[in-house]
Formats: sequence, structure tokens, C-alpha cells
Amino acid sequence: MQRVFSGIQPSGIPTLGNYLGAIRNWIKLQDDHDCIWCVVDLHAITVWQDPAALRQQSLEMAAVLLACGVDPAKHILFLQSGVRAHAQLAWIFNCVARLGWLNRMTQFKDKAGKDRENASSGLYVYPNLMAADIHAYHATRVPVGDDQRQHLELANDIAQKFNHDYGVEFFPNIEPVILGPAARVMSLRDGTKKMSKSDPSDQSRINLNDDADTIALKIRRAKTDPMPLPSEVDGLADRPEARNLVGIYAALTDTDHASVLKEHGGQGFGPFKNALTDLLVEKLAPITAETSRLLSDQGALIDLLRSGAERAAAIADPIVSEAERLVGFVGLRRG
Ligand code: TYM
Repeated sequence: MQRVFSGIQPSGIPTLGNYLGAIRNWIKLQDDHDCIWCVVDLHAITVWQDPAALRQQSLEMAAVLLACGVDPAKHILFLQSGVRAHAQLAWIFNCVARLGWLNRMTQFKDKAGKDRENASSGLYVYPNLMAADIHAYHATRVPVGDDQRQHLELANDIAQKFNHDYGVEFFPNIEPVILGPAARVMSLRDGTKKMSKSDPSDQSRINLNDDADTIALKIRRAKTDPMPLPSEVDGLADRPEARNLVGIYAALTDTDHASVLKEHGGQGFGPFKNALTDLLVEKLAPITAETSRLLSDQGALIDLLRSGAERAAAIADPIVSEAERLVGFVGLRRG
């Protein structure tokens, strides 16, 4: 069975973008893969996180993943800081990846913004840690949203250079799994910007813990244009906000843009937004309820994550020890 790895940052409440672009696809892969799901707290601190908030958000993120259907008995769920192998392999990868490669990363440019000199060095080497997350398990399939494509290409470049430099075939090639009509969910306020947990405007996103009234209000206020929905997919070109709402509807109903337009084409946004709100409430309410239930027993949640970290370390430690040996470390820890 192929091994799957993916991660999500506990840098806020997960959004509909995280859910439709990534988490839902994680759940689908669980049937016929060995899956490792990770809440990546080491990545989160590449930008400032209040310590108490980070702790709470890490547990909340784990609870949301369980509520969405992550199966911790058949698969592994843990917090990244619980397995030291990630940081150990990341250091080796810091020495394999070239500055020129990192300079091309568009997410660094977006996140660092104009004040690049003041960004943390962790933010710069963020993709190296991400490569380490995946390669520490010899995972070969990685389900993500479209925004992670460039990082996964870099993870393959790092693996190839490591294999080449040390004359081995140690790290396998990884295949991005980027699926569905919502691989890039856009902001509700601006159809050209990605929906993000860290956007300063809460109106720009649906959070997985929004209640029915909040969802209704955000969808009612979502930016649209004055024309009715087209009946053909071509009619969505140059209408990013319309394309986004149709894509969200399609993902929630497991169809595609064309089928949604067949049903709703010619309609104004008023009735379509009502139908979308009903659908969102129907899908998200059980997740919110289950998340609160799981968070009411934090001790049990921490035990579950600790056991996940132990099982993850049992896979990653020997792989990273072997990478260290290949590099030429004497390996005192192996006794
Ligand atoms: P993060 O926390 O930003 O996002 C988690 C997942 O959600 C997807 N995503 C979206 N998909 C569609 N539309 C959106 N608006 C949207 N916003 C986010 C992301 O593509 C991602 O799949 N670097 C990763 C975390 C990570 C990781 C890894 C992923 C760390 N190590 C190893 C895979 C493998 C990230 O930024 O996650």
C-alpha cells in the first residue's frame, strides 16, 4: 500500500478552503492507503504565534481533523513537534536545498511581503521542513490544495539532489494529489485572492466552527457580480467570484462546475446563495458539534496524539538515522 503524508498548520481555525482543498481528500484516501496526518506546529511558528493560542489551536486542529473523519485507529494523527525526526531531517535538507531554489518560492514572497528583511529565517526554509515531513516517512503521495504545488516540486528536487550527491536511491519521488473543483477556494471578498486562515478579514472566509447564522451572513455578503449565473462553464471566465461559489457548491455535492450550472444556470445569485448556505450548514454543523465534543476531553485528545507521535516516530526514526549515516555522521544515538 502506498504511504500518504499531509500536514496542516494550527495557525487559526481551519477554513472551508482547507476542508474542500485538502481535508476532504485526505479522508477519501484513507480507504486504500497508509496515511500519516500531521498538525504542523513547527511550521506555524515561522510567523509569530502567541504560545497559549498555539497550544489551543493545535488541539483544536487535531479535533477538527478527527471530526472530519480522520481515523486514528487505522492511520496516524499527531503533532509535528512530537516527533524529533522532522527537525533533524530538515537540518540536513537545509544543507541540500540551494538558496536559488528557495528564492523562487512564491509563498515566501507572499508571506514575507514588503518587509522581507524582517521575516524569520524559519519562514525562508519552511519548504525544506515540509520536504523533511514527507521524506522522513518515505511517503509517495501527498494530498494538498493547489497552493502547495511548488513546495512539492521543491521536495522532489531536494530528494533528487540528496540521492545524487550521496550516490543512493534513498528518497522516493512524491506525487502531489490535487483534486476536485475546489483545489483553490478563493476569498469571499475578492475572487482573485486565496481563502486563508490568516486573512485579517473574517468575512473573507468560512471557518469550520462558524454557526448557521454566521455562514448565512457571510454568504449573503459574499462579493458577486450583477449578472445571473451562466449555463455553461465558459461563462465563468473573467467572473472569479461566481466561479468560486459554483466551485464550492460543486465540491460540497461531489460534482463539477458544469453539473452545478446545469441545475442553477440562469438563476440570480439570491436563490443560489440560499441553496449554498443550506448546503454549507448541512455539511459543517456535524463537524462543529463533533469538534466541541472532542475538545471537552483534552486529556483523551492528548493521549491519542501522543500515541500517534509514538507510532510516527517508529517509522521516521530509522529512516532519518539512515539518512544521517549516509551523510557521514558517526551516529552516537544508535549506540
Ligand atoms: P496550510 O495549513 O496552509 O493548509 C492546509 C491544506 O489546506 C490547503 N488549502 C487550500 N486548499 C484550497 N483552497 C484554499 N483556499 C486553501 N487554503 C489552504 C493547503 O493547500 C494544504 O493542503 N505547507 C502546508 C502544510 C504542510 C504540509 C507538509 C502539507 C507542512 N508540511 C507536508 C503537505 C505535506 C500548508 O501551508 O498548510
